[in-house]
Amino acid sequence: MYVCICQEVTDRQIRQAVEEGASTMRHLRKDLGVAACCGRCAPHAKALLDEVRQENRAACMSAACA
Ligand code: FES
Repeated sequence: MYVCICQEVTDRQIRQAVEEGASTMRHLRKDLGVAACCGRCAPHAKALLDEVRQENRAACMSAACA
């Protein structure tokens, strides 16, 4: 599903970027161009960023790195 229409960025691309180390909206903007045009995607992109980081944190807590 497209999150950022202006830059044609999907939720899958954002998830992948976070998995590869993006941890802020600044990173997503730099890496993918998210919210670099009209900015309407910013709230959804930020929510997705937080969701994926939370998922990763929960997975880490239940895995060997805890
Ligand atoms: S929808 Fe993302 S910058 Fe416009």
